[in-house]
Amino acid sequence: MAPVDLFCFLFCFLVLILSAGYGNGHQDCPHSFTCGNLGTLHYPFTKAELPDCGLLAIRDCDDPLQPTKTIQLEKNGNSSSIVVNGITQQGEISILDEDFHKRLQQNTCGALKNNYSLPSPSSLYSIHIEYNVTLFKCKHSLNMNMKPPAHYFKYQCHDYDYDIYYDSLPSPNNKEAHSLFSSYSVIQISSKDLTDTSNILSFLSAEMTLEVVLSNDCYECYNLRGGQCLLDSNQKFYCEKGTLYINFSFIP
Ligand SMILES: *[C@@H]1O[C@H](CO)[C@@H](O)[C@H](O)[C@H]1NC(C)=O
Ligand SMILES: *[C@@H]1O[C@H](CO)[C@@H](O)[C@H](O)[C@H]1NC(C)=O
Ligand SMILES: *[C@@H]1O[C@H](CO)[C@@H](O)[C@H](O)[C@H]1NC(C)=O
Repeated sequence: MAPVDLFCFLFCFLVLILSAGYGNGHQDCPHSFTCGNLGTLHYPFTKAELPDCGLLAIRDCDDPLQPTKTIQLEKNGNSSSIVVNGITQQGEISILDEDFHKRLQQNTCGALKNNYSLPSPSSLYSIHIEYNVTLFKCKHSLNMNMKPPAHYFKYQCHDYDYDIYYDSLPSPNNKEAHSLFSSYSVIQISSKDLTDTSNILSFLSAEMTLEVVLSNDCYECYNLRGGQCLLDSNQKFYCEKGTLYINFSFIP
Protein backbone atom coordinates (compact mmCIF):
# COMPACT_ATOMS: atom_id res chain seq x y z
CA MET A 1 0.00 0.00 0.00
CA ALA A 2 1.36 3.42 -0.96
CA PRO A 3 2.12 5.76 1.98
CA VAL A 4 -0.71 8.08 0.94
CA ASP A 5 -3.19 5.24 0.94
CA LEU A 6 -1.91 4.01 4.27
CA PHE A 7 -2.29 7.48 5.73
CA CYS A 8 -5.82 7.76 4.41
CA PHE A 9 -6.63 4.29 5.62
CA LEU A 10 -5.65 5.19 9.18
CA PHE A 11 -6.94 8.72 9.05
CA CYS A 12 -10.27 7.91 7.41
CA PHE A 13 -10.78 5.02 9.77
CA LEU A 14 -10.17 7.32 12.74
CA VAL A 15 -12.63 9.88 11.36
CA LEU A 16 -15.21 7.16 10.94
CA ILE A 17 -14.74 5.94 14.49
CA LEU A 18 -14.92 9.45 15.90
CA SER A 19 -18.05 10.26 13.96
CA ALA A 20 -19.77 6.97 14.67
CA GLY A 21 -22.42 7.02 17.31
CA TYR A 22 -23.23 4.28 19.74
CA GLY A 23 -26.58 2.69 19.87
CA ASN A 24 -28.79 0.05 21.38
CA GLY A 25 -29.81 -1.48 18.13
CA HIS A 26 -32.98 0.57 17.87
CA GLN A 27 -31.75 4.09 18.10
CA ASP A 28 -28.55 5.77 16.96
CA CYS A 29 -27.23 7.87 19.79
CA PRO A 30 -24.97 10.85 19.18
CA HIS A 31 -21.85 11.13 21.31
CA SER A 32 -22.82 14.70 22.13
CA PHE A 33 -25.52 17.17 21.24
CA THR A 34 -26.00 20.91 21.48
CA CYS A 35 -28.71 22.40 23.61
CA GLY A 36 -29.14 26.14 23.09
CA ASN A 37 -27.37 28.26 25.68
CA LEU A 38 -26.35 25.12 27.61
CA GLY A 39 -23.78 24.37 24.92
CA THR A 40 -22.58 20.89 24.06
CA LEU A 41 -23.76 18.12 26.34
CA HIS A 42 -23.08 14.40 26.49
CA TYR A 43 -24.12 11.29 28.35
CA PRO A 44 -25.73 10.86 30.92
CA PHE A 45 -27.73 13.75 29.49
CA THR A 46 -29.84 13.39 26.40
CA LYS A 47 -32.47 15.29 24.47
CA ALA A 48 -36.05 14.54 25.40
CA GLU A 49 -36.52 13.37 21.80
CA LEU A 50 -33.92 10.60 22.32
CA PRO A 51 -34.90 9.29 25.78
CA ASP A 52 -33.04 5.99 25.33
CA CYS A 53 -29.72 7.73 24.73
CA GLY A 54 -29.13 8.89 28.27
CA LEU A 55 -30.36 8.91 31.84
CA LEU A 56 -31.48 12.52 32.20
CA ALA A 57 -33.54 14.15 29.47
CA ILE A 58 -33.43 17.87 28.65
CA ARG A 59 -36.43 19.37 26.91
CA ASP A 60 -36.54 21.88 24.02
CA CYS A 61 -32.86 21.58 23.08
CA ASP A 62 -33.65 22.07 19.40
CA ASP A 63 -36.23 24.81 19.89
CA PRO A 64 -34.67 28.25 19.35
CA LEU A 65 -37.97 29.88 20.33
CA GLN A 66 -37.76 28.27 23.76
CA PRO A 67 -34.55 29.65 25.31
CA THR A 68 -35.44 28.10 28.66
CA LYS A 69 -34.43 24.46 28.79
CA THR A 70 -36.01 22.19 31.38
CA ILE A 71 -35.02 18.84 32.80
CA GLN A 72 -37.02 15.78 33.60
CA LEU A 73 -35.69 14.53 36.91
CA GLU A 74 -38.12 11.67 37.44
CA LYS A 75 -38.95 9.39 34.55
CA ASN A 76 -42.52 10.31 33.55
CA GLY A 77 -42.45 12.86 36.33
CA ASN A 78 -43.97 16.30 36.18
CA SER A 79 -40.93 18.49 36.10
CA SER A 80 -41.98 21.15 33.63
CA SER A 81 -40.98 23.81 36.13
CA ILE A 82 -37.37 22.69 36.62
CA VAL A 83 -35.26 25.12 34.61
CA VAL A 84 -31.68 24.18 33.79
CA ASN A 85 -29.32 27.15 34.14
CA GLY A 86 -26.14 25.32 33.32
CA ILE A 87 -24.38 21.96 33.11
CA THR A 88 -20.67 21.47 33.72
CA GLN A 89 -18.47 18.87 32.03
CA GLN A 90 -18.22 17.17 35.44
CA GLY A 91 -21.96 16.51 35.45
CA GLU A 92 -23.08 19.23 37.84
CA ILE A 93 -26.43 20.74 36.91
CA SER A 94 -27.53 24.09 38.21
CA ILE A 95 -31.31 24.25 38.30
CA LEU A 96 -34.12 26.49 39.42
CA ASP A 97 -37.25 24.71 40.59
CA GLU A 98 -39.89 27.42 40.19
CA ASP A 99 -42.59 25.36 41.85
CA PHE A 100 -40.43 24.68 44.92
CA HIS A 101 -39.49 28.37 45.00
CA LYS A 102 -43.17 29.34 45.16
CA ARG A 103 -43.90 26.80 47.87
CA LEU A 104 -40.92 27.98 49.94
CA GLN A 105 -42.08 31.60 49.77
CA GLN A 106 -45.77 30.96 50.34
CA ASN A 107 -45.68 28.14 52.88
CA THR A 108 -42.19 27.57 54.18
CA CYS A 109 -43.13 24.94 56.76
CA GLY A 110 -45.17 23.01 54.21
CA ALA A 111 -42.32 23.07 51.68
CA LEU A 112 -39.98 21.70 54.37
CA LYS A 113 -42.27 18.85 55.33
CA ASN A 114 -40.24 16.42 53.24
CA ASN A 115 -36.86 16.24 51.60
CA TYR A 116 -36.57 17.86 48.20
CA SER A 117 -37.63 15.08 45.91
CA LEU A 118 -34.88 13.67 43.71
CA PRO A 119 -34.73 10.39 41.83
CA SER A 120 -33.80 7.71 44.33
CA PRO A 121 -30.34 6.24 43.83
CA SER A 122 -30.32 3.34 41.39
CA SER A 123 -27.67 0.94 40.13
CA LEU A 124 -27.20 3.44 37.27
CA TYR A 125 -26.62 6.74 39.06
CA SER A 126 -27.42 8.92 42.03
CA ILE A 127 -28.11 12.64 42.35
CA HIS A 128 -27.00 14.79 45.28
CA ILE A 129 -27.62 18.35 46.30
CA GLU A 130 -24.16 19.83 46.33
CA TYR A 131 -24.64 22.57 48.92
CA ASN A 132 -27.20 21.48 51.46
CA VAL A 133 -28.19 22.25 55.00
CA THR A 134 -29.57 19.82 57.56
CA LEU A 135 -32.81 20.79 59.23
CA PHE A 136 -34.34 18.93 62.17
CA LYS A 137 -38.10 18.56 62.18
CA CYS A 138 -39.25 18.07 65.78
CA LYS A 139 -42.81 17.38 66.88
CA HIS A 140 -44.31 19.97 69.23
CA SER A 141 -45.33 17.23 71.62
CA LEU A 142 -41.71 16.13 71.95
CA ASN A 143 -39.84 19.43 71.94
CA MET A 144 -41.66 21.30 74.73
CA ASN A 145 -38.83 21.06 77.18
CA MET A 146 -36.02 20.84 74.68
CA LYS A 147 -33.33 23.47 75.14
CA PRO A 148 -30.76 23.17 72.38
CA PRO A 149 -27.50 25.16 72.70
CA ALA A 150 -27.61 28.82 71.73
CA HIS A 151 -26.07 28.17 68.33
CA TYR A 152 -29.30 26.47 67.18
CA PHE A 153 -32.13 28.48 65.65
CA LYS A 154 -35.75 27.45 65.89
CA TYR A 155 -38.22 28.13 63.08
CA GLN A 156 -41.77 27.84 64.37
CA CYS A 157 -44.43 26.06 62.36
CA HIS A 158 -47.70 27.01 64.03
CA ASP A 159 -49.91 25.39 61.41
CA TYR A 160 -48.11 22.07 61.63
CA ASP A 161 -47.32 19.67 64.45
CA TYR A 162 -43.58 20.36 64.27
CA ASP A 163 -40.94 23.08 64.50
CA ILE A 164 -37.71 23.23 62.57
CA TYR A 165 -34.28 23.54 64.19
CA TYR A 166 -30.97 24.16 62.49
CA ASP A 167 -27.39 24.76 63.49
CA SER A 168 -26.13 28.29 62.84
CA LEU A 169 -22.50 27.13 62.79
CA PRO A 170 -20.95 26.52 59.39
CA SER A 171 -19.68 23.01 60.18
CA PRO A 172 -22.36 21.17 62.12
CA ASN A 173 -21.44 18.72 64.85
CA ASN A 174 -23.38 15.60 63.88
CA LYS A 175 -22.73 13.82 67.17
CA GLU A 176 -24.13 16.69 69.18
CA ALA A 177 -27.13 16.95 66.86
CA HIS A 178 -27.84 13.24 67.14
CA SER A 179 -27.95 13.33 70.90
CA LEU A 180 -30.04 16.52 70.96
CA PHE A 181 -32.62 15.55 68.36
CA SER A 182 -33.18 11.91 69.10
CA SER A 183 -36.81 12.00 67.98
CA TYR A 184 -36.43 14.26 64.97
CA SER A 185 -36.62 13.74 61.26
CA VAL A 186 -33.76 14.98 59.17
CA ILE A 187 -34.40 17.10 56.10
CA GLN A 188 -31.61 18.06 53.71
CA ILE A 189 -32.36 21.12 51.59
CA SER A 190 -30.24 23.17 49.24
CA SER A 191 -28.64 26.21 50.81
CA LYS A 192 -27.13 29.24 49.17
CA ASP A 193 -25.72 31.00 52.19
CA LEU A 194 -24.60 30.69 55.82
CA THR A 195 -27.23 29.57 58.32
CA ASP A 196 -26.27 32.17 60.94
CA THR A 197 -29.65 33.90 60.83
CA SER A 198 -33.20 33.36 62.03
CA ASN A 199 -34.36 34.31 58.53
CA ILE A 200 -34.56 30.81 57.10
CA LEU A 201 -35.47 32.03 53.61
CA SER A 202 -32.22 33.94 53.34
CA PHE A 203 -30.30 30.68 52.91
CA LEU A 204 -32.80 28.06 51.71
CA SER A 205 -32.95 28.12 47.96
CA ALA A 206 -34.83 26.62 45.07
CA GLU A 207 -31.80 27.44 42.93
CA MET A 208 -29.46 24.55 43.47
CA THR A 209 -26.51 22.61 42.15
CA LEU A 210 -27.13 18.93 41.67
CA GLU A 211 -24.33 16.46 41.23
CA VAL A 212 -24.96 13.46 39.03
CA VAL A 213 -22.77 10.50 39.96
CA LEU A 214 -22.71 7.43 37.74
CA SER A 215 -22.45 4.10 39.54
CA ASN A 216 -19.13 2.31 39.11
CA ASP A 217 -20.79 -0.20 36.79
CA CYS A 218 -22.29 2.53 34.66
CA TYR A 219 -19.09 4.58 34.58
CA GLU A 220 -17.18 1.57 33.33
CA CYS A 221 -19.88 0.59 30.84
CA TYR A 222 -20.05 4.01 29.26
CA ASN A 223 -16.48 5.28 29.53
CA LEU A 224 -14.45 2.11 29.11
CA ARG A 225 -16.70 -0.15 27.05
CA GLY A 226 -18.55 2.45 24.99
CA GLY A 227 -21.86 0.95 26.01
CA GLN A 228 -25.07 2.21 27.50
CA CYS A 229 -26.26 1.61 31.05
CA LEU A 230 -29.72 0.15 31.22
CA LEU A 231 -31.96 -1.66 33.66
CA ASP A 232 -33.53 -4.95 32.64
CA SER A 233 -37.11 -5.88 33.42
CA ASN A 234 -36.03 -6.92 36.95
CA GLN A 235 -34.45 -3.49 37.50
CA LYS A 236 -31.00 -5.07 37.38
CA PHE A 237 -28.08 -3.31 35.77
CA TYR A 238 -26.77 -4.33 32.41
CA CYS A 239 -24.42 -2.79 29.92
CA GLU A 240 -25.72 -2.72 26.39
CA LYS A 241 -22.53 -3.08 24.44
CA GLY A 242 -21.85 -0.10 22.19
CA THR A 243 -22.05 -0.72 18.48
CA LEU A 244 -19.98 1.34 16.11
CA TYR A 245 -21.93 2.01 12.98
CA ILE A 246 -19.19 1.99 10.38
CA ASN A 247 -20.05 1.81 6.75
CA PHE A 248 -17.16 -0.20 5.39
CA SER A 249 -17.71 0.99 1.83
CA PHE A 250 -16.03 4.27 2.84
CA ILE A 251 -12.75 2.57 3.64
CA PRO A 252 -10.35 2.84 0.70
C1 LIG B 1 -47.36 19.79 36.59
O1 LIG B 1 -46.64 21.01 36.61
C2 LIG B 1 -47.36 22.13 36.12
C3 LIG B 1 -46.43 23.34 36.10
O2 LIG B 1 -45.83 23.55 37.34
C4 LIG B 1 -48.60 22.35 37.02
O3 LIG B 1 -49.33 23.43 36.53
C5 LIG B 1 -49.45 21.09 37.03
O4 LIG B 1 -50.51 21.25 37.94
C6 LIG B 1 -48.61 19.87 37.45
N1 LIG B 1 -49.40 18.66 37.33
C7 LIG B 1 -49.38 17.69 38.26
C8 LIG B 1 -50.19 16.48 37.96
O5 LIG B 1 -48.73 17.78 39.30
C1 LIG C 1 -25.80 16.91 51.31
O1 LIG C 1 -24.40 17.12 51.28
C2 LIG C 1 -23.65 16.00 51.76
C3 LIG C 1 -22.20 16.42 51.81
O2 LIG C 1 -21.79 17.02 50.62
C4 LIG C 1 -23.90 14.81 50.84
O3 LIG C 1 -23.18 13.68 51.30
C5 LIG C 1 -25.39 14.50 50.81
O4 LIG C 1 -25.64 13.47 49.90
C6 LIG C 1 -26.18 15.74 50.43
N1 LIG C 1 -27.59 15.46 50.59
C7 LIG C 1 -28.44 15.36 49.56
C8 LIG C 1 -29.87 15.14 49.92
O5 LIG C 1 -28.08 15.44 48.40
C1 LIG D 1 -34.22 13.04 54.10
O1 LIG D 1 -32.99 12.63 53.55
C2 LIG D 1 -32.02 12.23 54.51
C3 LIG D 1 -30.71 12.00 53.79
O2 LIG D 1 -30.88 11.26 52.63
C4 LIG D 1 -32.55 10.98 55.25
O3 LIG D 1 -31.61 10.56 56.22
C5 LIG D 1 -33.87 11.36 55.92
O4 LIG D 1 -34.43 10.22 56.54
C6 LIG D 1 -34.86 11.94 54.94
N1 LIG D 1 -35.97 12.48 55.68
C7 LIG D 1 -37.25 12.21 55.42
C8 LIG D 1 -38.26 12.86 56.28
O5 LIG D 1 -37.58 11.45 54.54
